[in-house]
Amino acid sequence: MIKLTNLQKIYRTREIETVALENVNLEVRRGEFLSVMGPSGCGKSTLLNLMGLLDLPTSGTVEIDGVNTAGMRDKELAAFRNRRLGFVFQSFHLISSLNVLDNVELPLLYRKVSASERRKRAEAVLEQVGLSHRARHFPTQLSGGQCQRVAIARAIAGDPEILLADEPTGNLDSKMGIEIMELLHRLNREEGRTIVMVTHNEAQARQTSRVVRFFDGRQVQ
Ligand SMILES: Nc1ncnc2c1ncn2[C@@H]1O[C@H](COP(=O)(O)OP(=O)(O)OP(=O)(O)O)[C@@H](O)[C@H]1O
Ligand SMILES: [Mg+2]
Repeated sequence: MIKLTNLQKIYRTREIETVALENVNLEVRRGEFLSVMGPSGCGKSTLLNLMGLLDLPTSGTVEIDGVNTAGMRDKELAAFRNRRLGFVFQSFHLISSLNVLDNVELPLLYRKVSASERRKRAEAVLEQVGLSHRARHFPTQLSGGQCQRVAIARAIAGDPEILLADEPTGNLDSKMGIEIMELLHRLNREEGRTIVMVTHNEAQARQTSRVVRFFDGRQVQ
């Protein structure tokens, strides 16, 4: 469903040039739970950003269901992102001035759904992640694990087929981490969502359907 071919990403500033990804060929298959591993700075977040159409490659192609995204207009890209992708960012990226429910509703603001439908959906996903009792709280009033669950609720609020999760347990203690992993596995197995997850945790990666490893911008396995 997402196919990367000869993908290269170079970040250029006036003085520095960083090759973040080099010659990456990778296909994400429908329904799989893919782990992306590798040392800090090897390009994992860059890879997720390119898969998620949040950034453009320097060269190479990103295909979605066989269609080269280079030929798509901004509107089409945004529509795809909105309808089919859910993001869990490396640090939760919750908006601190909005309560939990309003944070979770954010991806639905761009949909043609009524305010009451939005609220219903947000309440349903909050229940799914076990946080109904925190709906009116603000992010600063929550633990790290709870914030991450809100971030996951927000990511699935728009019912995306593909979930891109960047170190979803990175900031959590091991018990919270296990809970979040159980939640992700449930979303994969029971709801059939395709998941691409960046992780530094070998045990977590072993439980997923496939692991790809990067080193210095190149896929090594
Ligand atoms: N916006 C940017 N501008 C310039 N260089 C960048 C930018 N984003 C990332 N880089 C560089 O690209 C390389 C890959 O970064 P990336 O964030 O993808 O790594 P990562 O594997 O996700 O690391 P970590 O495990 O620490 O999150 C790094 O050398 C980084 O410094
Ligand atoms: Mg990263």
